[in-house]
Amino acid sequence: MGADKALHEENRRSWNAATDAHNSHKGDQATRYRQGGQTLHPEERELLGEIRGLDVVHLQCNSGQDTLSLAQMGAVVTGVDISDTAIAFACRLSEEAAVAATFHRADVYDWLEETALSDQRFDVVFCSYGAICWLSDLSAWARGIAAVLRPGGRFVVVDFHPVWLMLDDDWTLKAPYSRFGPARPTTYPDGIGDYVAMEMQTTEPGKPLPGVQDFQNPHPVHEFAWGIGDIVTALLDAGLLLTTLREYPYTNSAHFPAMNVQGEGRFVPPEGVPAIPLMYGITARKGL
Ligand SMILES: C[S@@+](CC[C@H](N)C(=O)[O-])C[C@H]1O[C@@H](n2cnc3c(N)ncnc32)[C@H](O)[C@@H]1O
Repeated sequence: MGADKALHEENRRSWNAATDAHNSHKGDQATRYRQGGQTLHPEERELLGEIRGLDVVHLQCNSGQDTLSLAQMGAVVTGVDISDTAIAFACRLSEEAAVAATFHRADVYDWLEETALSDQRFDVVFCSYGAICWLSDLSAWARGIAAVLRPGGRFVVVDFHPVWLMLDDDWTLKAPYSRFGPARPTTYPDGIGDYVAMEMQTTEPGKPLPGVQDFQNPHPVHEFAWGIGDIVTALLDAGLLLTTLREYPYTNSAHFPAMNVQGEGRFVPPEGVPAIPLMYGITARKGL
């Protein structure tokens, strides 16, 4: 098999275009971090546990907001992402907010391979929310994670549930759960959209949208449908020990229109749609 780097490069162009639009809506982020701001949710904080003083790598970190939040929890952090604009933004944010972090612009497969060959090792490998669907080879990814963890180190992921990713905006089925076999991408010609704008319009209807308006992405993207079984099997085959598997019937972001708010910042399907898992969390440990 092997990772499909040519597809990853096309994804990089799409993420480069979208990331500027996303950040244009988020206001003065540096000030928020200087004041101790946090973007991590209770679910990943719970699965991460105490990370003070630990070496944590955040894979597919985008513009570094969660990476800096890991640093605010006391970890020594490294962020890795394929997008040039995301990593440039992350470096700027780290400097302006005076929150220390190291960032690398790289395809996650290249970074894992190069790091495995070096002496650098991590206590925690973390990724979240919209990470797994960009991976073209789960086995190589999981082997790479196992290779860069110290003995006893942990992998932690919280991501959107593959059941939810099967559904269209109107909650009807649009995509398979998994490809049940070799990876085959689905191509979306419209690329990464401005979901930050969409979320703001859903949560604060009628409020004028700051930043880029009516964003159109000229670059297509290629996503991979991986089921929970695919992900867990890849981690187990890489020699990691499964320590947590959670499914959550809510999500922390309103990606679809017409979701109901349940508690602070938690979104559930509208009336008439049965409860389904919208997010999952996995932790896995490398043996001593
Ligand atoms: C939805 S974002 C993840 C956001 C993340 N949860 C955060 O902390 O903000 C997905 C990220 O994956 C990155 N990505 C996609 N394919 C990649 C690859 N092959 N290697 C590294 N990063 C990749 C994209 O550039 C994008 O920043």
